[in-house]
Amino acid sequence: MKVSSTLAAMQSAEAMRAAGIDVVDLGAGEPDFDTPQNIKDAAITAMLAGKTKYTAAAGTRELQKAIIEMYRRDFGAIYERNEVMATSGGKQAIFNAIVSLINPDDEVLIPKPFWVSFPEMVAFARGKAVPIETEENGFVLTAGMVRRAITPKTKLIILNSPSNPSGRVIPPAEFKEIMEVIAEKDIYAVSDECYLRFVYPPATVFSAASLRPELRKRLCIAGSFSKTYAMTGWRIGYALTNPDWTRAMLKVQGHSTSIATSISQAAAVEALNGSQESVATMLAEYSRRREWLLNALNEIPGLKCARPEGAFYAFPDVRGCLNGTVKTSERFANELLEKEQTVVTDGVGFGAEGFIRISYATSLDRLQEGVQRIKRVAERCSA
Ligand SMILES: Cc1ncc(COP(=O)(O)O)c(C=O)c1O
Repeated sequence: MKVSSTLAAMQSAEAMRAAGIDVVDLGAGEPDFDTPQNIKDAAITAMLAGKTKYTAAAGTRELQKAIIEMYRRDFGAIYERNEVMATSGGKQAIFNAIVSLINPDDEVLIPKPFWVSFPEMVAFARGKAVPIETEENGFVLTAGMVRRAITPKTKLIILNSPSNPSGRVIPPAEFKEIMEVIAEKDIYAVSDECYLRFVYPPATVFSAASLRPELRKRLCIAGSFSKTYAMTGWRIGYALTNPDWTRAMLKVQGHSTSIATSISQAAAVEALNGSQESVATMLAEYSRRREWLLNALNEIPGLKCARPEGAFYAFPDVRGCLNGTVKTSERFANELLEKEQTVVTDGVGFGAEGFIRISYATSLDRLQEGVQRIKRVAERCSA
């Protein structure tokens, strides 16, 4: 099993900072904002009230209710309590879904570029990860691509829109067509909605939950509080799916982590039911950085960056900057780290050699400094 390349980048940055080096870290996959105060207060209140014990396996009633209510209010989707469970982060929702479903040799379709953990989780379940190429469409999956990739052994597809690492968003009409193919072929789908709220106009927030029930019979939504509410360290997420799949996932969770942390569950209730102002503030700031970053990146000779509609990543193509000694995006990323003390994540771990991921979950100042450094490396490469 591979070490996560995103975590590896974080560790390199940390080691350099510890040595007193001025590192620009554009590798981070987490918000640079603090968790909103109302959410922290809810956690403190929960602790003081003694909510520090095991909860029901699927989570507290309050949290289940808040999740169900959010999907009803925002997406018109009706879920029952036996279709929702709280998890230790969105990651565990995805893990539970894969491990409870996949038997050895089952094929799992994973559109490229993918979040690094998807194929590793499939390997854990002894399934076979089958990547789908999407570069021909600027890394946006289409129903046609899905149809062509399905074989008699296909059991599951993992969808992630907005995508980490590309930031691309599948347009809602295309998403619906994809789900029609999936329903027709009787396969399962996991929709990783970790970046659900971070989309930039004209793109709009879209959840697969809003599709008609026949199209989501075999869909599991994996949700997370990590990015939307800047709660990465709280380890809290959820899964929404049919009662059978939920029961199977509860077994996986029951024999591994048992429950999501009781205090984080209480905080998550406040995140959903409390003011959403902090989410709007974060989104506005990401939007400002994104605007600046995209223009700046596209001015660097040899570098090309498509317009990401969501998440907080840019995913430029650096193949135009490669030369005799710097032949791969991995070398390019290393060159940035070694010569310019700048951390980005090489695309190869996401299944996209030739690209690098730049996170703009960092201040505009640091982004500006980082882009200067990237420009210097790009210019040296093409000299
Ligand atoms: C695409 C994607 N899915 C899921 C996760 C998991 O998030 P968490 O487990 O913190 O909720 C991440 C985190 O980086 C992610 O980028």
